Amino acid sequence: METAKAEVTQDLIWEGIRRDVSVQVEREPILASFLHATILNHNTLEAALSFHLANKLDSPVAPALLIREVIDEALESDAIIGAAARADLAAIEQRDSACHSLYEPFLFFKGYHALQAWRVAHWLWQQNRRSLSLFVQHRISVVFGVDIHPAAQLGQGILLDHATGIVIGETAVVEDNVSIMQSVTLGGTGKESGDRHPKVRCGVLIGAGSKILGNIEIGRCSQIASGSVVLKPVPEKSLVAGVPAKVIGTASCEQPAISMDQCAISKVDQLR
Ligand SMILES: CC(C)(COP(=O)(O)OP(=O)(O)OC[C@H]1O[C@@H](n2cnc3c(N)ncnc32)[C@H](O)[C@@H]1OP(=O)(O)O)[C@@H](O)C(=O)NCCC(=O)NCCS
Repeated sequence: METAKAEVTQDLIWEGIRRDVSVQVEREPILASFLHATILNHNTLEAALSFHLANKLDSPVAPALLIREVIDEALESDAIIGAAARADLAAIEQRDSACHSLYEPFLFFKGYHALQAWRVAHWLWQQNRRSLSLFVQHRISVVFGVDIHPAAQLGQGILLDHATGIVIGETAVVEDNVSIMQSVTLGGTGKESGDRHPKVRCGVLIGAGSKILGNIEIGRCSQIASGSVVLKPVPEKSLVAGVPAKVIGTASCEQPAISMDQCAISKVDQLR
């Protein structure tokens, strides 16, 4: 019983980040003060996250100190934000072959920063603090080049890879364990109002530059080839490609978003 309790309170992700950063302090003295300020001076992942994000979102309108208070408030009042921040880190380490340690996305990957800052904007939206949530959305868009409406619904274990140019609309839904590459739009067609954005189910892999338009369902564990324009619902575990996109096969594996198996996507690209 005692052991089980100890395991619950242990934060392996945060401990791993601190351990790896301590090694980097020795290896790169030029980064030592930055690594102390962002990681080693903090006791929890939440404290480090609010410090790091606030400095990135800093602006003359709302300086880092004030932004940090808001981020801390969100993290303290909703434990799911901290849990999601850990699940997103684990997802990046598992799926992004350019990631070799958890501290790398935490400090340097703007898709991770944009997603965590969106989680704060979403919390503000849920608290009916509309103007501040839109301000945070604006800062995320300016600083990271990622535009996610605060009212959109995103799950956990999400990878925004490279992230530049990702746009996600107000009524979009992105369920758990989805991987989204750069320059993807989950938008409206311009012909619908109200609930007008895509619903992306668990485990979907969306290739770079794809545009998914309208209130359509992208079935679980399906794969969208890079450069596709998807206008119709996609059945689960299928592979779609083209403009407009058509089903060209089944997803290359059970969990495309997790394995990041892009073989099928590459083959389609070579045929163009
Ligand atoms: C072009 C658009 C306005 C639809 O126009 P529409 O004339 O009503 O078109 P329909 O939906 O009736 O589709 C007509 C045909 O064009 C195709 N089509 C529609 N939009 C297309 C697009 N963006 N690219 C390629 N083909 C497209 C449809 O597949 C359909 O083909 P089909 O007749 O062979 O089935 C809309 O699809 C679009 O692209 N809007 C822009 C949305 C956007 O940029 N959103 C981003 C918001 S952040």
